[in-house]
Amino acid sequence: MVADRPESVYHCEQPVGDAALVSDARIAGIHGADAQVALGGRLVSVHELPEGEAAKTVDAVTALWDALRLDRAGVLVALGGGCTTDAAGFAAATYLRGIRWVAVPTTLVGQVDAAIGGKTAIDLAEGKNLVGSFHWPVRTVIDPVLLATLPERERREGLAEVVKTGLLMGESLWELPDSQLVRRASAYKSGVCLQDPNDHGARHVLNLGHTFAHALEAAAGYESVTHGSAVALGLLATLRLSGLDTSAVEETLRPEPVHVDRERAWTALQRDKKSQNGRVRLVLLDAPGKPVHGVERPETEVRAALDELIAH
Ligand SMILES: NC(=O)c1ccc[n+]([C@@H]2O[C@H](COP(=O)([O-])OP(=O)(O)OC[C@H]3O[C@@H](n4cnc5c(N)ncnc54)[C@H](O)[C@@H]3O)[C@@H](O)[C@H]2O)c1
Ligand SMILES: [Zn+2]
Repeated sequence: MVADRPESVYHCEQPVGDAALVSDARIAGIHGADAQVALGGRLVSVHELPEGEAAKTVDAVTALWDALRLDRAGVLVALGGGCTTDAAGFAAATYLRGIRWVAVPTTLVGQVDAAIGGKTAIDLAEGKNLVGSFHWPVRTVIDPVLLATLPERERREGLAEVVKTGLLMGESLWELPDSQLVRRASAYKSGVCLQDPNDHGARHVLNLGHTFAHALEAAAGYESVTHGSAVALGLLATLRLSGLDTSAVEETLRPEPVHVDRERAWTALQRDKKSQNGRVRLVLLDAPGKPVHGVERPETEVRAALDELIAH
């Protein structure tokens, strides 16, 4: 659910017990004090997760479980980017066999993607998001004003997901001011996820560009290539395979071919979770706004599209 100001969550109509506020150290310093004021007398504890993916570890979540003092009427409020909401949401899914939680995303990635749809997760050494749970927040409060302090680098990460959503919707969302693009993109993702809360079908379209993106990230060892830049390249490959104009992606995201090992990328792409019987199944577009999923293309075409994303 989208609200105009984050305070509205702290006065939501559902009866809620004590509140625990969870954020990372950076966000605690920027927006933590406002959140504490808004939570008022309900707030019983404040917790910090490590910044970035370090939050999505068993150790970080164990420390949070140990520090929480909520009972089953309590509510955990996660304030931060996707790493914070993924890890704190997972803690809420598991603490006392599951307590309510509220997501207050503070990054563009969080506001248009990560904090919507009920997926919570932590990482394992073998890969990202391998342990988690579907545990929908009782409310997601999205306030684009919180993005004013977001560094440009982080904004670009989110812009890739905005372009993805715009292509799925058939709307040039990326041309809108933040307040509108966040509203439109978050409403679209919510709508798709509510049709398919446990990710069995309709939600697959949200993987547009991601088969290629995950392959490039894996080939880079999740280090030199950010998710947003990999998604930008993945969207380029998707549009090319769909026979559609690539200018929106090129002008808005300016994707640059990446330096990764071709064989490694191809092996990773074939292992993609959407492949069946060894054949890669893609999400493509019949036209902007008309996604189709489960598309099989000849291996040579898919490999050529991947190769074009890799620097010589
Ligand atoms: N659950 C899902 O459906 C889903 C979907 C997409 C992504 N994700 C996950 O989200 C994570 C990435 O999230 P992210 O890109 O938001 O990264 P993040 O949570 O690491 O935040 C990025 C950085 O921005 C800082 N920051 C956050 N808000 C800020 C603000 N308003 N002002 C200044 N600095 C701010 C954070 O402290 C951090 O350093 C990944 O782990 C990914 O797997 C989950
Ligand atoms: Zn993504």
